[in-house]
Amino acid sequence: MLNFEYYNPTRIVFGKGTIAKTGDMARAYGKNILLHYGGGSIKKNGVYIKVIDSLKAAGVHVTELAGVVPNPRLSLVREGIELCREKQIDMILAVGGGSVIDSAKAIAFGSLLPDGQDVWRDYYLKGEGYSISKTLPVGVVLTIPAAGSESSSGSVITDWDTHTKRPVNSETLIPRFAIMDPETNFSLPAYQVACGASDILAHLHERYFTMEKHNDLSDRMLENAMRNVISYAPLALKHPYDYRYRAELMWTGTLAHNNLLDQGRIADWASHDIEHELSGLYDIAHGAGLAIVFPAWMKYVYRDNIDRFVQYATRVWSVSLSLDDKDVVVESAIDRLESFYRSLGLPVRLSDAGIGNEHLKRMAKSAVTGRSHLGNFKKLQAEDIEKILKLAM
Ligand code: NZQ
Ligand code: ZN
Repeated sequence: MLNFEYYNPTRIVFGKGTIAKTGDMARAYGKNILLHYGGGSIKKNGVYIKVIDSLKAAGVHVTELAGVVPNPRLSLVREGIELCREKQIDMILAVGGGSVIDSAKAIAFGSLLPDGQDVWRDYYLKGEGYSISKTLPVGVVLTIPAAGSESSSGSVITDWDTHTKRPVNSETLIPRFAIMDPETNFSLPAYQVACGASDILAHLHERYFTMEKHNDLSDRMLENAMRNVISYAPLALKHPYDYRYRAELMWTGTLAHNNLLDQGRIADWASHDIEHELSGLYDIAHGAGLAIVFPAWMKYVYRDNIDRFVQYATRVWSVSLSLDDKDVVVESAIDRLESFYRSLGLPVRLSDAGIGNEHLKRMAKSAVTGRSHLGNFKKLQAEDIEKILKLAM
């Protein structure tokens, strides 16, 4: 196990009726609040009105910025930065999913940058070697279990003019609080539930596939969290109004990405970086892109540490070791993973998502631009990434 320091300050407020606490929690960070949200689902499912009532009761002043789209856009981030400066906003309340939260994080630190620094050029595009020292506080009312942004240090933004989707990471960006009422998930379209489950599973996979040995507690926690997603995602789809299944997925989604489960090891993240190329170019949902990329990545890399994949196959997918041949054991786990994605209604090949082979080279090259390689389990160069995308055809 490698040395580590773990820090995650997000206060999680979980359960039925918790949105009523939003106003008081936000008020602790100031009186002037930017309420940031997406395309209107919160107005249809009653979340917006509950949030507004609670903010009013706490006596805060609210400025609204709506219109965040999945694969959130740099153009709205820039608008938000101007708005925060003009209205002297004290804190940002993100109400929605990963896209809204990521946009809020970008606005929150972008609005405090000194003159001459640009949120996109000097941070997201830079890739490495930046440091984010100041941000407005961000609070969250989460409405979908998926990205884990409610207590993560990351934010992923897309510049639609150049079709570039890039992350930044900094402890400074971790939200101050996340209100998580699983009842808000009742209104989720089935496809979004599936995409969310795929993203949660991917966050667990990224952390599981490491070359680090003797980190057994993390292995076992990750395996059980994966099994939880595999058990509860189909149940949440079948019984959309059953609180128990929503609650299981929502809590697993947070734990999958608050960094608790990868301490003492180096995680991979190549599949995420490859997926961001798909989302940036084709605007595909992140979870759907991951269902396409992950099996192909596994096929490409598993022989680099086949025993880790055998452990995954037997413990997560209950593949029998009596199959004898390790390759067969691993390949049957990958088959089971693909069948699981299909059973949720997700694509598992680029062609399932209507994507052809015309831009594979471009995506492979773009994925490594500004970086020495992708991934850690196996360090990938552009030619490896192109081969992985070919396996995903
Ligand atoms: O825009 P609205 O109207 O809110 O609709 C959203 C959106 O269309 C809808 N939705 C959310 N909650 C709902 C609902 N519809 C009905 N009822 C509800 N309760 O769902 C759609 C998808 O929302 P989005 O926020 O895009 O989903 P998700 O949470 O999956 O976020 C995806 C984004 O997060 C990034 C992804 O790259 C992607 O851009 N990620 C962020 C990470 C982070 N910051 O740590 C890590 C992840 O790996 C990921 O990369
Ligand atoms: Zn993800």
